[in-house]
Amino acid sequence: MDADLELVVGGRPVRFPAVWLRDNCPCPDCLAPGTGQKLKDITDIPNGLAITRTEDAGESVLVTFAPDQHRSAFPRSWLEDHAPGDDADGDGRTEDDKELWLPADLAEPPAMSWPSYLAGGKAEALEAVLRVGFVLLSGLSVVPGRVLEVAASFGYVRETNYGRLFDVRVEPAPGNLAFTSRAIRPHTDNPYRDPAPTVQLLHCLRAAGQGGDTQLVDGFAAAADFRAADPESFGTLARTPVSFGYVDEETDLRASLPLIQLSPAGRVRWVRFNNRSMRPLRRPYAEVTAFYAAYRRWAELLARPGRQLTLRLAPGDCLVFDNTRVLHARTAFSVSPHSPGRHLQGCYADLDGLASTLAVLQREEES
Ligand code: OGA
Ligand code: ZN
Ligand code: ZN
Repeated sequence: MDADLELVVGGRPVRFPAVWLRDNCPCPDCLAPGTGQKLKDITDIPNGLAITRTEDAGESVLVTFAPDQHRSAFPRSWLEDHAPGDDADGDGRTEDDKELWLPADLAEPPAMSWPSYLAGGKAEALEAVLRVGFVLLSGLSVVPGRVLEVAASFGYVRETNYGRLFDVRVEPAPGNLAFTSRAIRPHTDNPYRDPAPTVQLLHCLRAAGQGGDTQLVDGFAAAADFRAADPESFGTLARTPVSFGYVDEETDLRASLPLIQLSPAGRVRWVRFNNRSMRPLRRPYAEVTAFYAAYRRWAELLARPGRQLTLRLAPGDCLVFDNTRVLHARTAFSVSPHSPGRHLQGCYADLDGLASTLAVLQREEES
């Protein structure tokens, strides 16, 4: 009797623990045939499981388990595709699965016209959001609410206390810096939510006469450079929970998370950066001083002009970007009493939904 199964899959020897095999048994008693969902949980699987017999059945390997004589047939191709190994994170969300960039690296920022997007370009555009962090769609009609249709084309709108969509334009009594004509430094939106919205869209209905340019910074590329240049400060930011908050008459939102969030394997997975909504740091004195030194260095690195990609949104453009990774900013703009003024509409959506839409499109392309 053996606790493991040793097999050569894809040309290399792999040890499959008996309990791993049993938990993944594809027989109809263990796995619902229609949905592929598991029917047994870990406590249904006998403890101290062993393998009493293995048989080579060509395309499959048959395994018999003690103590209950349960038999499983594992297709060799399935074992090869799912073998235990060093695939630590595997969800596509960390720096390891991204193309990190400085503006100088991007010969052509990812962009596509809306008609091309609708005529078969969607997968390419969504793939750019996951890989590069954004795509600039152009040629949309200049109609209020259009941004919701863009979100609906790949997922579901994430409604918030701001509504299904929000207007970004100069307001007489602005409750947010966004609703003035002032510059907004690079930031991520809504770090006071947990989870923060992972995809953001901004649709331009009217551009400013002058200024109001959009700037994007690859936060993952910046974090990787920060780690290389100053590992201690990087570690401080990854360890320190920072409270963010947003309060108005109907709302009292709070979330406490690090500015640079790592995956279980220690890779950059989520950046948050928004000085406007940071709350007082309530950590011991030594941690506070270390945090502020690291925070200043991180902010200086993010603000370097060589990191900021400048795009000017024209009416009918819609920027779709990864709010867990790409920081966005805008320059100050002019306001004229005689013209209607700059007007964007934005909304939020989810990165997992976007990735799901892309996966289904790619599945269809392959079949
Ligand atoms: C925002 C924002 C940028 C802009 O509303 O979140 O950052 O270009 N706006 O006005
Ligand atoms: Zn089974
Ligand atoms: Zn913003």
